[in-house]
Amino acid sequence: MMNKIYSLLFFTSYLAVASSTTIADIQGTAWQSPLVGQTVNNVTGIVTAKGTSGFYISGDKSDDIRASNGLFVFSSSATVLGKVTVGDAISLTGRVTEFRSSTQPTFLFTTELSSPTNIIVLSSNNTITPVVLGKDRSPPTQKFSALDVGPDGFLSVPNNSSSIEAINATLQPDLYGMDFWESLEGQLVTIPKPTSTAFQNSFGEFWVYGDWPVTGKNSRGGLSITFGPDGIPDGNPETVIVGSPLDGTKNPKVAVGMGLTDITGVITYQFGFFYVLPLTAPQIISTPSPDIPATSLTSDIEDTCTITFGDYNVENMAPTSSHLPTVASHIVNLLHLPDIMFIQEIQDNSGPKDDGTVEANVTLSTLVAAIAKLSNVTYAFTQISPIDGQDGGEPGGNIRQVYLYRPEKFSLVAGSPTGGSLDKVEVTGSFLKPKLSFNPGRIDPTNEAFNSSRKPLAAAWQTKSGAQLFTVNVHLSSKGGSSSTQGDPRPPVNSPIEARTDQVKAVSTFVKSLLLKNPLAKIVVAGDFNEYLQTRSVYKSLTTVLSDIDEAAKTPIVERYSYVFDQNSEQLDHAFISLALRLRKVEFEHIHVNNWSPSLAARVSDHDPSVGRIRIC
Ligand SMILES: *[C@@H]1O[C@H](CO)[C@@H](O)[C@H](O)[C@H]1NC(C)=O
Ligand SMILES: *[C@@H]1O[C@H](CO)[C@@H](O)[C@H](O)[C@H]1NC(C)=O
Ligand SMILES: *[C@@H]1O[C@H](CO)[C@@H](O)[C@H](O)[C@H]1NC(C)=O
Ligand SMILES: *[C@@H]1O[C@H](CO)[C@@H](O)[C@H](O)[C@H]1NC(C)=O
Ligand SMILES: *[C@@H]1O[C@H](CO)[C@@H](O)[C@H](O)[C@H]1NC(C)=O
Ligand SMILES: *[C@@H]1O[C@H](CO)[C@@H](O)[C@H](O)[C@H]1NC(C)=O
Ligand SMILES: *[C@@H]1O[C@H](CO)[C@@H](O)[C@H](O)[C@H]1NC(C)=O
Ligand SMILES: *[C@@H]1O[C@H](CO)[C@@H](O)[C@H](O)[C@H]1NC(C)=O
Repeated sequence: MMNKIYSLLFFTSYLAVASSTTIADIQGTAWQSPLVGQTVNNVTGIVTAKGTSGFYISGDKSDDIRASNGLFVFSSSATVLGKVTVGDAISLTGRVTEFRSSTQPTFLFTTELSSPTNIIVLSSNNTITPVVLGKDRSPPTQKFSALDVGPDGFLSVPNNSSSIEAINATLQPDLYGMDFWESLEGQLVTIPKPTSTAFQNSFGEFWVYGDWPVTGKNSRGGLSITFGPDGIPDGNPETVIVGSPLDGTKNPKVAVGMGLTDITGVITYQFGFFYVLPLTAPQIISTPSPDIPATSLTSDIEDTCTITFGDYNVENMAPTSSHLPTVASHIVNLLHLPDIMFIQEIQDNSGPKDDGTVEANVTLSTLVAAIAKLSNVTYAFTQISPIDGQDGGEPGGNIRQVYLYRPEKFSLVAGSPTGGSLDKVEVTGSFLKPKLSFNPGRIDPTNEAFNSSRKPLAAAWQTKSGAQLFTVNVHLSSKGGSSSTQGDPRPPVNSPIEARTDQVKAVSTFVKSLLLKNPLAKIVVAGDFNEYLQTRSVYKSLTTVLSDIDEAAKTPIVERYSYVFDQNSEQLDHAFISLALRLRKVEFEHIHVNNWSPSLAARVSDHDPSVGRIRIC
């Protein structure tokens, strides 16, 4: 028995010495190397790039596009790195390793050759030919992974129902974006005519697509999340993130839609995404227009039947926030002073200072005064303060939703008290004359779905002519804790999707009770939902009773976005309207003042505002 094992081992290692292994053999056609853990000898390749923790080699072109012919050789030893120069043809020995940081189980493995020895330079100054993306190979444009099963594709529930690395399937690079980038792992590629789809992150990295077919392209040059032709969400896997240049130069600071010089670099996987590590930093060669068009939907204060409303997540606004005057100028100059504003993320009077303060009248008076200074329009405001520390967001800030409204146009329907933090608003009144038990009032504030999150703020309004409007201002739980679009769990973990689904259900229950009293009630539910409409499972309860205003107003599909994150332009902020509003003329505009910011530093909020115009009589 012992002898048998011994001879088997001997035979295997004899084979490895006798016939040299190609890089494509090491990479294989699946996610993990068939040779993991083995020592391979006489691996030959040309050095394509060098960094501080190793170098990349490229072997003979493989006949199978699934098997990459590029490989990272891991070593931070100066002696090892000093032996090789870009352009050298070398042979070496090393151990095949699948690497991922032990603290990051949602990341994928990268195939590496570690502990390199016997490095022999066979020749120098060899020509290196990168794979030209868009010419030699082009990425698929809709789906990330075959494991994203379900009608909502990568946004489907259940999320995290399988793992790429555990299944270790054969790659399908023609169909799935992650498989495509994996099939290029370790290879030198050129990205012709890159366009940035977002701002740089805090490490100076940024997302691009190159000169190849893309989907979801909006007028700014970003890529919006849309539905593919088969009705399944399209998350733009044709993009790649540009990491730190290997020569130590610094990437430029970018904004959405900038054009850059061609990037040549190596494909790798790190921090949850497929990266291109450029040999040197690209340069910006074109910049989109700095002009932000204002809304065309102006208010007519005398017209009591036509209402304009604005929606804006003003990102942690405290009385002393440096961005407060800029937000005021947006409301005046870009949103043109809507009759009513749905605002999210107003902090208490002491901002993030965690001192027990929950009132926000100073924050709101400061904002209202800043608007009045620019316009002579003095908004009134209404809101309900949360219980200290119970609604999530920046610690100590007690963010909440508020309404600003123009008292010369609107008043709160009288006869109901303002609700307290824990008072649940109910629909009362008689048939065709619904009323709210609190005005404003919070929807189901003790429902566990709203733990550590904002409770929706409902209100009933009337104009001088007596026409009524019901509104709900929402700010659902944020996506913190989700795994990346290119991570190991499939579909990616979308956190906390159960909470958002139940929060939408609570709003739907409220809306249904209103519609039961009056099927033609005029209702607007708007705010920051922290979820794309393509995640249909979350919205199912609401979309059976209300309509998406973008759909009603026929906003071009690729222009429906309010946020930019990772590779995508995406819509987190929505407005839904009831049938009685949908039957009349509906207009809606996204004002991309923040997504179109010329730089990350110049952006005042992470969300774009929007303006709608509806008819209530
Ligand atoms: C991954 O798949 C390849 C190809 O089928 C196989 O050789 C390898 O052993 C697999 N690795 C693991 C860890 O399953
Ligand atoms: C192949 O690898 C073995 C073991 O490292 C080494 O002794 C031998 O010189 C190599 N042969 C060639 C042709 O590089
Ligand atoms: C490689 O090319 C460079 C520049 O053309 C030259 O200086 C160098 O001598 C060459 N090296 C070898 C080993 O041929
Ligand atoms: C999403 O994934 C997380 C982590 O595995 C899990 O706890 C949660 O139940 C999943 N939710 C859904 C709706 O699939
Ligand atoms: C995904 O689910 C597995 C169990 O199937 C669990 O071990 C893992 O922690 C989950 N991943 C995340 C990111 O929650
Ligand atoms: C805020 O409210 C407090 C007490 O309710 C009041 O004393 C104070 O004057 C208000 N401040 C502003 C700026 O309205
Ligand atoms: C505000 O009103 C004052 C006094 O009527 C007027 O002088 C000023 O031009 C107005 N400002 C704006 C921005 O409308
Ligand atoms: C909500 O908070 C309560 C009290 O802290 C806790 O008992 C409950 O488990 C939480 N529910 C959820 C869904 O987080």
